[in-house]
Amino acid sequence: MIILGIESSCDETAAAIVKDGRQILSNVIVSQVDIFKAYGGVIPEVAARSHLEAILPVIHQAFKDAGFQKDGQDDWSQIDAIAVTHTPGLLGSLLIGTLTARTLAILHNKPLYPVHHLKSHIYSAWLDQQVPDFPLLALVVSGGHTQIIHMSNHNKFQIIGTTRDDAVGECFDKVAKILGLPYPGGPSIAQAATQGDSHKYRFPHPKLTTKARPGNNSANTAYDFSFSGLKTAVLRAVQEELKKPISFPSHQLASLLNAQQVADFAASFQQTAVDILLENLTRATQNYPCKSIVIAGGVSANQLLREKAPKCFFPTKSLAGDNAAMVASAAFFEHNSGIQPTDPYTITLQPRSPIQ
Ligand code: KG4
Ligand code: ZN
Repeated sequence: MIILGIESSCDETAAAIVKDGRQILSNVIVSQVDIFKAYGGVIPEVAARSHLEAILPVIHQAFKDAGFQKDGQDDWSQIDAIAVTHTPGLLGSLLIGTLTARTLAILHNKPLYPVHHLKSHIYSAWLDQQVPDFPLLALVVSGGHTQIIHMSNHNKFQIIGTTRDDAVGECFDKVAKILGLPYPGGPSIAQAATQGDSHKYRFPHPKLTTKARPGNNSANTAYDFSFSGLKTAVLRAVQEELKKPISFPSHQLASLLNAQQVADFAASFQQTAVDILLENLTRATQNYPCKSIVIAGGVSANQLLREKAPKCFFPTKSLAGDNAAMVASAAFFEHNSGIQPTDPYTITLQPRSPIQ
């Protein structure tokens, strides 16, 4: 079964063609990172406009790279289904991918699979040589999410831990801003950390109560995360290092730090963030026996995280961030589990929704 995947939930416009959920025939990603470097973060309206400009050329390129063009025209007879990220993400960004996929599904009479973004991140692990076994635990770490998810089988999800505030990727991005490092913060912190001493500064690990989250009385919260305190701890440590009061404007701190101080803060922060992630994950494995552990999402590109979790399944580094191959893969395994495609006229999109 050959599926065209489309992804536009944040600031990457991507299309990919994947055979039987595992074999990538083409994988095209156009990133808007260069635009958002100038602003230090994603601006939703700008992201949506950029998706609109990029999406059709990206899809044509995916056909071309797969060898599915005849006389310069996309050969739709090769495609069995279309998959698209429809939740969660930025509303305007999701809208472009979802409407494009829906229009193409109607025009070319193809089944349409709407895919949850976190589900597709987990399925990026299936695009590698060795695949995970069920039951499994997945730690999904991205710019918008930090969750531990138990999967008893394909498409059987139970969220067992989530962040109470910031996502870990968001924390990398915010700490990078404090240190004056470019957006996106994850790769620039990892880079700066290579020159730093991870023991130079000590940051606290969150101590969370296990009482139920608001609005969800039955949820087990024993494996929840919190990252906003870590970001503030870094800010306070930078203020202290520079002997500036709490009231000193935080955007003026970075220019007062020297390169070694930046590297030491980056290394100490990265070490703490990775330790927090793995402590919770390790505790979860003690209560949820599993055959494999998957770590996926943009932050799973982090080299320290990979080194500290050698027995876990990680996606190939180039597939850790947002891409459409993982969307096509997730849709294939939905199809395989008997999940029916969606009527393109009724497809919905949601900025927020839990994996299910
Ligand atoms: O999954 P993703 O590409 O987009 C979302 O779904 O959010 O994740 C993006 C996040 C950003 O916060 C980025 O800073 C982080 O992944 N990231 C990293 C690394 N590469 C990307 N964080 C830590 N280390 C990295 N090497
Ligand atoms: Zn993502």
